[in-house]
Amino acid sequence: MVVEPKVKGFICTTAHPTGCEANVKKQIEYVKSQGNMKGAKKVLVLGASTGYGLASRITAAFGMGAATIGVMFEKEASGKRTATPGYYNTRAFDKEAAAAGIYTKSINGDAFSKEIKEEVISLIKKDWGKADMVIYSLAAPRRTMQDGNVVSSVLKTTGESFTQKNWNLRDNTIGDATIQAATEEEIANTVTVMGGEDWMDWMDALVAADVLEDNALTFAYSYIGPRLTYPIYHEGTIGHAKAHLTKSAAEITRKYEDKGIKAFVSVNKALVTQASSAIPVVPLYLSVLYKVMKDKNIHEGCIEQMYRLYSDKVFGENGILLDKDGMIHLDDWEMREDVQKEVMDIWEQINSDTLMGLADTDGYWNDFYNMFGFKIEGIDYSADVDI
Ligand code: NAI
Repeated sequence: MVVEPKVKGFICTTAHPTGCEANVKKQIEYVKSQGNMKGAKKVLVLGASTGYGLASRITAAFGMGAATIGVMFEKEASGKRTATPGYYNTRAFDKEAAAAGIYTKSINGDAFSKEIKEEVISLIKKDWGKADMVIYSLAAPRRTMQDGNVVSSVLKTTGESFTQKNWNLRDNTIGDATIQAATEEEIANTVTVMGGEDWMDWMDALVAADVLEDNALTFAYSYIGPRLTYPIYHEGTIGHAKAHLTKSAAEITRKYEDKGIKAFVSVNKALVTQASSAIPVVPLYLSVLYKVMKDKNIHEGCIEQMYRLYSDKVFGENGILLDKDGMIHLDDWEMREDVQKEVMDIWEQINSDTLMGLADTDGYWNDFYNMFGFKIEGIDYSADVDI
């Protein structure tokens, strides 16, 4: 059938299989063009099908030559409904890795569950013996707890409500968005879903089953960003979860000191992904940031970020590069003083009339459509595809 994008605000309900495949191939080509790095050999990637997790998996497989096991939560096609992009991405990744002779196995299921942890552990035992790196890149709206209870995360501010400029994606206007303050319960729930508890559960399960090498490394991803987005991000419900994630990294390292296992948080750049486009105010910040960083020739996407993370800041000549706060900072270019100054100058001037000229709205939409396999060069979108 012919697959067309069906966009509703920050979500697209269709995905193009050939487009997604092309997207994965492009990322693989990028990594290959950058050259090999010395790194891990057997890498478990949790949240491996889109965004930063997919880019991490591609970097591990095609940059380090590592075997990977990926876990993701994606939907298959059914009837006239296409599969989710992460489903097509994973299929494409598996195909490309197998063709290159690189071990790959993908498990589609709920990473929060005990069953999937057990499935991964028996697969590692059977095929690898032990893993030497674990990447935790889940971004989930909810988590089903062991007792069946479902906990949902919210994207809200904390303390008092706040109002900020917002890009209405439906009618391309700039208005004010007021974001309500979360209740204590909503904050706690967001920490349960997006904090480090499940990361710790994974590490506990892997160590208990003896499927991790001594000195194994584990990474999770965070975001801080500028003061402008503090109320919705850094000091919002998601920021509370990220603070918990950071605390968990230190706890994992302390707990498994005798095995030399070390956990790190990498603070990444803000990018258009399914997770970030759902956050109020953030799409406008992203499109202004894209404009400034592209003008300065320092714009990166997920794959450029993840390649730079592992080649320069983890497996580079000088070992793991941590900033004063104990985290790896891949947001170094985003947070550069000149970049942030220009972003803020533009922010002051932006309104419905100046939006198109001052922000990279095309770049935002391009990344957005690309995530779902649309608007990718060389794809004939009028052709029938098997979904
Ligand atoms: P994404 O939405 O592209 O990817 C999320 C991944 O998690 C997908 O592979 C999805 O299948 C998987 N997933 C979700 N629920 C799952 C479940 N229950 N079981 C198994 N897999 C599940 O998100 P993105 O943006 O790549 O986020 C990854 C991490 O990077 C998150 O921790 C996020 O906070 C962080 N980050 C994102 C930034 C951004 O601007 N997008 C910036 C800095 C950090």
